[in-house]
Amino acid sequence: MKRRKFVAGNWKMNKDIAETTELLNAVLGMPTVATGEAEICVCPPFPSLLRAEHVLAGSRILLGAQDMSEHDGGAFTGEVSARMLTAAGCTHVILGHSERRQYHGETDGLINRKVVRALAAGLVPIVCVGESLTEREKDETTARITAQVEGVLNNLAGSQVAGLIIAYEPVWAIGTGKTATPGQANDVHALVRGLLSARFDEKTANSTRIIYGGSVNEKNAAELFARPDIDGGLIGGASLKAGSFSSICQAAG
Ligand code: 13P
Repeated sequence: MKRRKFVAGNWKMNKDIAETTELLNAVLGMPTVATGEAEICVCPPFPSLLRAEHVLAGSRILLGAQDMSEHDGGAFTGEVSARMLTAAGCTHVILGHSERRQYHGETDGLINRKVVRALAAGLVPIVCVGESLTEREKDETTARITAQVEGVLNNLAGSQVAGLIIAYEPVWAIGTGKTATPGQANDVHALVRGLLSARFDEKTANSTRIIYGGSVNEKNAAELFARPDIDGGLIGGASLKAGSFSSICQAAG
């Protein structure tokens, strides 16, 4: 089954409203972004979402947020709901990023509840999993990824899983300039696809997009995306430069 490639820029805590406008206009000005088969998404910080929606209107670039609440609304100071995101023009939301897990104590259970809430609101979750350096060195990658995938997808139906995107982001490769080799990344992607097949069925496993994140840049993107189980990328630092991001999008086809 041919899966459409997906490339998302995770801007993290970068770019205010004026800078968002500037970067998006630069990205839109790149000829390679206007064409191509791959789905492209950008995930700016919350205060920039509405402006991003205006700037991107009529373009092929989709809009995502970097997190959301597990709750629908109410007395949850500092939180943002799924409905607020869709109202601001978001179609996607990153959930369970390793920085949320590491700095905000997010667990697989919490991420699972957020996934359920996002799907109910019609958002496409980009759900992150990934092992730490210690886990990789101790040969615990398979166990860690298996536990995370099972935890974040708990109680979901295969039809729901086929509509979401799983991002494999080895923690040791994030922002470090160390990329997993295409072989290392593909091995984990194949593991995840195998888990989906065992837990749901082959159709679900073959429909679900699994993207790679961790120091993807314009030089290594094509080789990573050429691997059979790598369906695109979640791009941090390189998504903050229009030229790099557009080259990465081009590498996705
Ligand atoms: P870098 O591309 O900066 O390594 O970040 C990856 C990431 O965390 C994307 O979500």
